Amino acid sequence: MATAVAEHAVVDGATAIPLLVYFSSVSGNTARFIEKLEARALRIPLHSPERGGGPPLVVDEPYILVTPTYGGGQGRGVEKGAVPKQVIRFLNDEHNRSLIRGVISAGNTNFGEHFGLAGDIISRKCHVPHLYRLEVFGTPDDVRRVSEGLERWQKLL
Ligand SMILES: Cc1cc2nc3c(=O)[nH]c(=O)nc-3n(C[C@H](O)[C@H](O)[C@H](O)COP(=O)(O)O)c2cc1C
Repeated sequence: MATAVAEHAVVDGATAIPLLVYFSSVSGNTARFIEKLEARALRIPLHSPERGGGPPLVVDEPYILVTPTYGGGQGRGVEKGAVPKQVIRFLNDEHNRSLIRGVISAGNTNFGEHFGLAGDIISRKCHVPHLYRLEVFGTPDDVRRVSEGLERWQKLL
């Protein structure tokens, strides 16, 4: 609808929908979700350069982070291991950390109170909103809600 389009900030003729930065392990669930969004997205490499991976990801514009949660039920303390180490490494770069504007967590409700815990931790540590929690690779409803959210969330940039 014209009203929705008119609300967007236009940068160089393109609509300013936030950049997504995401991590996805070998199971690839989060990557599948990202593909369905058809948004601009950059992937945090699975492996460090020492282990044959690509160069570390460095971003140069505000972004929303999408991350799965791991570590649940390992009995090592509630939060230990919940944020993937690749995501921690990415956020340990001060420049990358300064550009995060929100976080979306992926997980599995089987993990009960640990569902999407990585998003809670990042939200607290980086002082950004935990925008959405989705399960595995997301339902069509998740895709719709997050797509609509991205249009609203561009005001966070
Ligand atoms: C060992 C293991 C631990 C997990 N721990 C959690 C958890 O604590 N909380 C949660 O919400 N999901 C947890 N999950 C579910 C994953 O977050 C979920 O499968 C996610 O979609 C994986 O994304 P990826 O395939 O992109 O890496 C866990 C999965 C595994 C395999």
